[in-house]
Amino acid sequence: MKLLKADSPQDMSRKAANIISAQIILHPHSVLGLATGSSPIGTYDQLVEWYQKGDLDFSEVTTVNLDEYCGLDGSHEQSYRYFMNQHLFNRVNINMEQTHVPNGKAEDVAAECRRYDSLIASLGGIDLQLLGLGHNGHIGFNEPSGAFEKTTHCVALGESTIQANARFFDSIDEVPRKAITMGIKSIMQAKKILLIVNGEDKRDILHQSLFGPVTPNVPASILQLHPDLTVVACNAL
Ligand code: F6R
Repeated sequence: MKLLKADSPQDMSRKAANIISAQIILHPHSVLGLATGSSPIGTYDQLVEWYQKGDLDFSEVTTVNLDEYCGLDGSHEQSYRYFMNQHLFNRVNINMEQTHVPNGKAEDVAAECRRYDSLIASLGGIDLQLLGLGHNGHIGFNEPSGAFEKTTHCVALGESTIQANARFFDSIDEVPRKAITMGIKSIMQAKKILLIVNGEDKRDILHQSLFGPVTPNVPASILQLHPDLTVVACNAL
């Protein structure tokens, strides 16, 4: 495990963007696993800036996102598809057909979960997975539970996750209660994992995740077992 301390949120974003851009430059056909939420916004902004300067080319890159809210269409402003389009995909030369987010409007959610796992397998797995960390230790929307869920699945979001995400909606009642998330197996099978964590409020859960027992009660603790994990943290290590 490599632990990188960042001096500021901007420094965290720049360090993370450096790692992602190195991946793209060295391997233009990379499959990137991407996250939403507040943590990666600065990283995406930095990647866009380097793209605009001509230093990065996304034309051969494929992306798979970790998760999507159930019930939200990609045109909904709070959907993760919309987020990705706004923060990254619409701003770089990526082929939209090579960007993948679970379909939150799928009528048959179980079939959508199977499709997503097959898709990741057909791409040959993920080369670099970017992760944020939930206050309860979730990664993607793998919430604390009695067992690590291996495959893409539908989850009932925990109360702390609903509350944390309420800031993006007009009221807490509008926060979807369910989401589709990539499972622990797809995340752990990524060749490299990059976890970015910002803020004093995540210090305790980051410490539990990296140095505590490996337990599904703290889903991110499984990352201790990954052979190529880089953590970039600001005010949290
Ligand atoms: C989002 C995701 C979540 C977030 C986590 C942290 O795609 O998978 O696990 O990474 O909830 O969110 P922020 O960065 O908003 O603190």
